Amino acid sequence: MGLMQPLGRLRLGVNIDHVATVRNARGGTYPDPIRAAKLAEESGADGITAHLREDRRHISDADIEGLMEALTVPLNFEMAATEEMLTIAKRHRPHAVCIVPEKREERTTEGGLEVARDENRLAHFIAPLRDAGCRVSIFIAADRMQIEAAHRIGAAVIELHTGAYCDAHAEGRFDERDAELERLREMSAFAHDLGLEVHAGHGLTYDTVKPVAAFPEVMELNIGHFIIGEAIFRGLAPAIHEMRRLMDEARS
Ligand code: PXP
Repeated sequence: MGLMQPLGRLRLGVNIDHVATVRNARGGTYPDPIRAAKLAEESGADGITAHLREDRRHISDADIEGLMEALTVPLNFEMAATEEMLTIAKRHRPHAVCIVPEKREERTTEGGLEVARDENRLAHFIAPLRDAGCRVSIFIAADRMQIEAAHRIGAAVIELHTGAYCDAHAEGRFDERDAELERLREMSAFAHDLGLEVHAGHGLTYDTVKPVAAFPEVMELNIGHFIIGEAIFRGLAPAIHEMRRLMDEARS
């Protein structure tokens, strides 16, 4: 067996949506997601992720504008594949645009995008984003058909949905959790072999991050809800530092 190659550094994108959720619970101006994003940046976040939902339940249009002005690290702008969002993305030209499915009634992004079923439309939809210089990422389940479709439509990146793995862990369904993890592992390698950059995220916690962070093909994790929740107890910077430490440990 040859010498093991050291794994590349895994990027951490901090999702600040739920700072805006707390702000919006009272409809005021605090806590400010842009202040949180700047603190995340100072605390080692390699990027900031924000999801402008169609119903604006957390991040607002003004937040996106403020993030574009304030950040020195890349913004990963999550959005549904709608004309309204396309116009906003083309105006701001964020570093990355992650296309996510969106249903008004869902509490969070519950599944991955059905790329295979909507291939033609999505191929046309992402072309102007690529032309605007955005790196287009598609949020999908760890499913071969979806990965192949994401590749065919010309996405540079896929983000694998880790929600099923995290839910199975949280609910003590450990056989299912391990099966989900295996699927994520295999599909990371499959997507990487196709030439796609592989990211992962959704529902990751201190308990679930390490096995995913250890996949050599994964280059970025996007983590929000748990970090923002943990910040209540230890502060945002220490909450991020601990996630970073676990990711580095998994990678070493
Ligand atoms: N990645 C994507 C594409 C997402 O939609 C979300 C949630 O907005 C996340 C990552 C982060 O998930 P969580 O907030 O559960 O860590």
